[in-house]
Amino acid sequence: MSEEEKLSYSEAIKKAYASVYRFPLIPVRGIPIMNLIAKNWDSIWAFRPEPSDLLIATYPKAGTTWTQEIVDLLLHNGDAEACKRAPTPIRSPFLEIFSPPPIPSGLDLLKEMDPPRIIKTHLPFQLVPPGFWENKCKAIYVARNAKDNLVSYFHFDCMNMTQPDPGPWEGYILKFMRGEYPCSPGPEVAWGSWYDHVKGYWMEREKKNILYLFYEDMKENPRREVERIMRYLDLSVSDEVISRIVELTSFKNMKENPMANYSCIPAPVFDHSISPFMRKGEVGDWRNHFTPEQSKMFDEDYEKQMKEVNIPFRTLI
Ligand code: A3P
Repeated sequence: MSEEEKLSYSEAIKKAYASVYRFPLIPVRGIPIMNLIAKNWDSIWAFRPEPSDLLIATYPKAGTTWTQEIVDLLLHNGDAEACKRAPTPIRSPFLEIFSPPPIPSGLDLLKEMDPPRIIKTHLPFQLVPPGFWENKCKAIYVARNAKDNLVSYFHFDCMNMTQPDPGPWEGYILKFMRGEYPCSPGPEVAWGSWYDHVKGYWMEREKKNILYLFYEDMKENPRREVERIMRYLDLSVSDEVISRIVELTSFKNMKENPMANYSCIPAPVFDHSISPFMRKGEVGDWRNHFTPEQSKMFDEDYEKQMKEVNIPFRTLI
């Protein structure tokens, strides 16, 4: 690209960012998803990964970025500089994301990369392109307890101008539970039900060789979980490198790392002044948000929605 072309491309990108708005959700096989994703659904569903590609799947706000960083560092033997080669969404593309052109889609970025690629998705299990399972790709699923996940998603929906307006907190709880709330713009959250998401991957984890991790375990003992990921990926790095990876992926270090903290996404899209992407990174922050009544109502509903599975979530560590 000539200098002139580069300049006009970067102007076009700026314009595209400025044109984003709180995109409506459109159902894809019953799952509410951002309209641009729904519109491009056929090309997403047809995506064919290579067998060496790795899928990192999560419900939004469960610890995706953290896991992407750990995996990238493991694949680069803990080389911090190598993992600062580009921001997270470039190093590890978001499979289904589509933004106004010319901002590249996840599929555009993947096309330009050589396998093995670290591919992020928030799609529920049944919407993951079947090529991943046909090619026996490895997949890591990270789950976070419902209450902290909800709190994190609420703050994210406040600052991410491509997500539907979360509305007031008390209504958001009902939306997350899939309740109706007359003041909110829609009764559901993007990527659908947390309950169905965590259950979907849980039921398939053995058949599909999915490594199912918990955010709370990562907080409790990051070293143990980094080693677990390393073994799953058939990698072997030294104890010293593991220690370095644990340090580099601490909340504090990632918050300060411009290649991992999403400061790359400009203000018209992510307004970090409303809530930073790297917000708190804690287990149990829900206690600062739920009233005792809200907590009771949520727990009673949780028992019903989760009764057929026994997924060992912890809301405190
Ligand atoms: P909070 O909003 O509770 O702070 P995702 O990457 O899936 O969007 O998840 C974002 C959540 O993970 C945010 O939670 C963010 O702060 C937290 N997070 C990101 N990196 C982390 C890390 N290294 N350690 C702990 N939490 C982290």
